[in-house]
Amino acid sequence: MTRLLVTGGAGFIGYHVSKYLLERGLEVVVFDNFSDYYSPHLKRMNAHEIEKLGAKIVDGDILNKKALASTIENERCRRVIHLAAQPGVRYSTINPDKSLRINVEGTSNVLNISRECNLDRVVVTSSSSVFGPTIFMPINEEHPKNPMSVYGVSKYTTELLVSVFRHLYPEFDTTIIRPFTVVGARQRPDMAINKFVSKVMTSSPITVFGDGSQTRDWTHVENMAQAFHLAALKPKAKNQDFNIGAGSRISVNVVLEMVSQITNRGLSIEYTEMNKADAKDTFADISKAKKLLGYDPKKNIYDAIEDFTEFWLKQFHSERMLKQEAQPATI
Ligand SMILES: NC(=O)c1ccc[n+]([C@@H]2O[C@H](COP(=O)([O-])OP(=O)(O)OC[C@H]3O[C@@H](n4cnc5c(N)ncnc54)[C@H](O)[C@@H]3O)[C@@H](O)[C@H]2O)c1
Repeated sequence: MTRLLVTGGAGFIGYHVSKYLLERGLEVVVFDNFSDYYSPHLKRMNAHEIEKLGAKIVDGDILNKKALASTIENERCRRVIHLAAQPGVRYSTINPDKSLRINVEGTSNVLNISRECNLDRVVVTSSSSVFGPTIFMPINEEHPKNPMSVYGVSKYTTELLVSVFRHLYPEFDTTIIRPFTVVGARQRPDMAINKFVSKVMTSSPITVFGDGSQTRDWTHVENMAQAFHLAALKPKAKNQDFNIGAGSRISVNVVLEMVSQITNRGLSIEYTEMNKADAKDTFADISKAKKLLGYDPKKNIYDAIEDFTEFWLKQFHSERMLKQEAQPATI
């Protein structure tokens, strides 16, 4: 039985990847430090749910080499899906040191320890942010890489680390996945769909950077989980890089219309200046992933907004119940 270590497995994508692997009979060990970038409570909740499906949860930091090595050895993991990171393009502008330390030093630790432990494969998570300004679309794996944010630099640096490993240790097997804007239930609070739905459900104005004509390749998180599963196991993924998206692009304004339709509420939108660290358009060429991995995205942005809204409502109601239970009884 293949046992995989999923770093960052308590986070948004990590939860869905772990669940997807467990549902397909694989063994999963989650390694996550429950960082406070956003509510650790949400991550504990994710971890608790995947623990019920059979995952082992280890509270550990990728900056702690000893803890990482002993977990891989003691838990007899053979492959790693490395998702742990300090995400957030805008956050990296105000806190560059943290983004660089966790993403670069942390990934270097994961690579070095995995090689020392003689693992079968490490899947490293990069990002579409490595590409920067779009020169041609759809963006294939050969598109020039000119990151426009510290986050993008941190991810590009991890890609360079991987290429150095491939040069120095050709027998060591690494795969790079570059996710394009991931959407769905449990999405991080700093991301667009979470913000749009949370705001509309609480009748608050939505802030949009730019005029909303910018486009994204919105990738349903279950498609992303499928891609990580394939990347971790398929022999053809060895030492390859893959752009993973839906293979389409839709503007923020169209997505806002979908949010209004799904929530059945009107929107109050405030347009503000485009953030310099953000790309104008993203659109993944997924033909390589389709050909070598058999990647077959099945869900779309509309499904993702529905899934997130359903999740948001469940959260909202359970938090309200907890608050009510905490109220003193009235006589
Ligand atoms: N969400 C997206 O649209 C998107 C797009 C491109 C790339 N990515 C990448 O995908 C990965 C997962 O992103 P996400 O959106 O699920 O973010 P997330 O913040 O929900 O998940 C990251 C997880 O890593 C954990 N973590 C952070 N620092 C750690 C450390 N030092 N040691 C151990 N664990 C640590 C966090 O506690 C969290 O559970 C990241 O590498 C991110 O850069 C995400």
